[in-house]
Amino acid sequence: MKLSIVLTVALAAISALGAATASAPLAITVHTDRQGPEINPAMWGIFFEDINFGADGGLYAELVKNGSFDFPNPLMGWTGLPGNSPTGSISAREGDSFSPSKPHYTRLISTSDTGFGVSNEGFSGMGLHEGETYDLSLRARAVEAGDNKLIAALVSASGQVLASAEMEIRGSQWEQRTGVLLAKATEAKASLRLTFSGKGTVDLATVSLFPRHTWKDRPGGLRADMAQMLADLKPGFMRFPGGCIVEGSQLDRRYQWKNTVGPRDERKLLINRWNYEFKHRPAPDYFQSFGLGFFEFFQLCEDIGAEALPILNCGMACQFNSGELVPMDQLEPFIQDALDLIEFANGAPETVWGSRRAALGHPSPFGLKMMGVGNEQWGPQYIERYAAFAKALKARYPAIKLVSAAGPSPADDRFNFLWPKLREERADIVDEHCYANPIWFLASTHRYDQYDRSGPKVFMGEYAAQSVFVVSPSNRNTLECALAEAAFMTGLERNADVVRMASYAPLFAHAERWQWTPDLIWVDNLRVCGTPSYYAQQLFCRNRGKAVLPVEVSGAQIEPQPAGRIGLGTFQTSAEFKDVKVTRGGGELLRSDFSASSEGWSPSAGNWSVKDGALLQTDSLAAAFTFAGNQSWSDYSLALKARKLAGKEGFLIVVRDAGSGTRVQWNLGGWGNQAHGIQLLLGGQEQVLERVPGSIDSGRFYDIKLELHGAKLDCYLDGKLIQSAQIPPPRVERLYASAVRGEAPGETIIKVVNPWPEAASATLTCDGQMPPTSGTAVVLAGSALSDENTLDAPTKVMPINESLDQVKGSFRYSFRPYSLTVLRLTRQSLNRASR
Ligand code: AHR
Repeated sequence: MKLSIVLTVALAAISALGAATASAPLAITVHTDRQGPEINPAMWGIFFEDINFGADGGLYAELVKNGSFDFPNPLMGWTGLPGNSPTGSISAREGDSFSPSKPHYTRLISTSDTGFGVSNEGFSGMGLHEGETYDLSLRARAVEAGDNKLIAALVSASGQVLASAEMEIRGSQWEQRTGVLLAKATEAKASLRLTFSGKGTVDLATVSLFPRHTWKDRPGGLRADMAQMLADLKPGFMRFPGGCIVEGSQLDRRYQWKNTVGPRDERKLLINRWNYEFKHRPAPDYFQSFGLGFFEFFQLCEDIGAEALPILNCGMACQFNSGELVPMDQLEPFIQDALDLIEFANGAPETVWGSRRAALGHPSPFGLKMMGVGNEQWGPQYIERYAAFAKALKARYPAIKLVSAAGPSPADDRFNFLWPKLREERADIVDEHCYANPIWFLASTHRYDQYDRSGPKVFMGEYAAQSVFVVSPSNRNTLECALAEAAFMTGLERNADVVRMASYAPLFAHAERWQWTPDLIWVDNLRVCGTPSYYAQQLFCRNRGKAVLPVEVSGAQIEPQPAGRIGLGTFQTSAEFKDVKVTRGGGELLRSDFSASSEGWSPSAGNWSVKDGALLQTDSLAAAFTFAGNQSWSDYSLALKARKLAGKEGFLIVVRDAGSGTRVQWNLGGWGNQAHGIQLLLGGQEQVLERVPGSIDSGRFYDIKLELHGAKLDCYLDGKLIQSAQIPPPRVERLYASAVRGEAPGETIIKVVNPWPEAASATLTCDGQMPPTSGTAVVLAGSALSDENTLDAPTKVMPINESLDQVKGSFRYSFRPYSLTVLRLTRQSLNRASR
């Protein structure tokens, strides 16, 4: 399954083109004298969330897991030593600690002269680099007199001691102890061993181990290599701290920024929303220590030249979880948190929250310009809460732009409900989200061409192409995904007056500890790896330009054939189907009477079986589908009988299935058995084309017929035409292009994506008065759509600089197969495309 959706759908589309279109001469014309809208300097940014161990166990460089013994299982991450026959005991304790805000500690009792100790496993081990220094700190007190010497050691997975240090623990009062450990070898899976050398009893608290070399060498700081990857992108903004963790699965688990600033020992641990989500990749040891808190986020933004975009909880818990709501009359503290955050970021050092920032070492303001209200919320409850936030925030800080949510999908009912409401609210920027198969991105490059230019602006705040559209290890960060995203980004750029910001999501993932794929940057305990998508983002960030230049591409249009397989399905319902027949003209394409088997049918989910001449689907929880026929089928009629057995809805009858979540379905008894609707799915993203009230009864057979005439679909129930729709063809192109005016006078930057297996030779024309005379190209390409970078081979897909010959007002350029090319053309020969 490494060969992708694009191969499935788009190559089928190309072959259906007919030679005329496929061989039409390709031409790209950039109107260099006709300047379009200015591009937001913060157009291309990053989305940070503590998902996939992005912060704790990731960017936040702390190597000890649960060093404060605050986890609900206080000894999680810790084991007594030696393993099988410990000569002492370890116990979790609470109260009588060094500070009421860190009540937990552990007691070690050593009962033998040979000593006793504990080991911390880190986050899937601790990454150590040979020759680097690691700073250990802990609090300790001697409870009973004894030898009282603590030996700290960094130990490899094979048991070799790679560094050690000794600490005396004398007094019966809590004391801070530190040790310096110099690693004599590189090791990805080290552990920290603390051995108490003789008999006695000691208490330990707040055990911490940091590499001395962190980002900007700040003590207790960020992993330098991971932060460097962010700096190297040159992002225009950074959104933080999420994502769903902003909302929390329930309200008392929401992200509260005030709990994340100030002394680390006062930052209260919180369960991470991704601790148990998704359920098939649970992470019971996933908590937020907030060592990377709001001050550090602002500082990082400043370091890497990115505008800060904090997102705050708006009184709603994650609607995929509890959806808990704060009553409107109790929303005030949430709004106050938002007001206080602006003061924390921008207030003078004399103000309450400005003084907190100053005390943390940053007297000058951070210059916050925008803030998000809620993450991915939807429904009328969101609009109410957004309005209350906006009223208070705009009254006090009219210049701060507010980002509002448009739900989790770019085109569903939730989205369609929210946009007009947000328009009424005169929202500043609406945050759209989309995770879909590459075909959705290729087909959506003109999405914003029709958007209202005078309404709210768009922040494409979370997007990523997913090769299989589920969270699974086979969902890889391929070149195919990167090219589909890049094609989509040309559309964002061409519409930079409407789309003011965009960010890929999620940002980081730990190779052994992820919850969500794909992701922009993969890491393990020692290494980092930029995906092809990372390099595509980097090319856009580094070649942003100042203003849009109109660009025309001719000869690129592909008209995919309105064709595909048939399918049967149910949503949270069990049902049976029989007498399935597909006909075209006078001929029969398929007949299934299910007298003996379901031969020819390929289920993708659900529990399908054959009984008494019918095909049964008995899983009443799943979205269940089975498909049959041929992807080249068009202009056919599908007839069948269907009976609902039990469950919430009715039937899903599929035509034009092209695989990978691209199909048309008649949803009978959908929306909780309240409506019938024709839905178009493109790369897993669904649009409702037509909907009428209707329901499906259990226990009786219905006669169902779907007729396809070219792009038109007619749907009949019991012989009666219920609804029809014209199915819009996905717009797929041979080349995708955008152009901008560069920073330097007379500089034109053109971005072109060729996602296909053949090189595309095009005539490139800059039709302005002053044609370019020289230029450079930077090309991100590969030899197969399935190409990807890995931690072992991180540079397989990398941008490569190329020089350009014979640049003039009009010249030919051959865009490599499977490529994103950035051409930087100038009248002098000074500038080079930025990698
Ligand atoms: O990016 C991963 C998740 O996707 C985010 O937490 C959430 O906002 C969206 O559903």
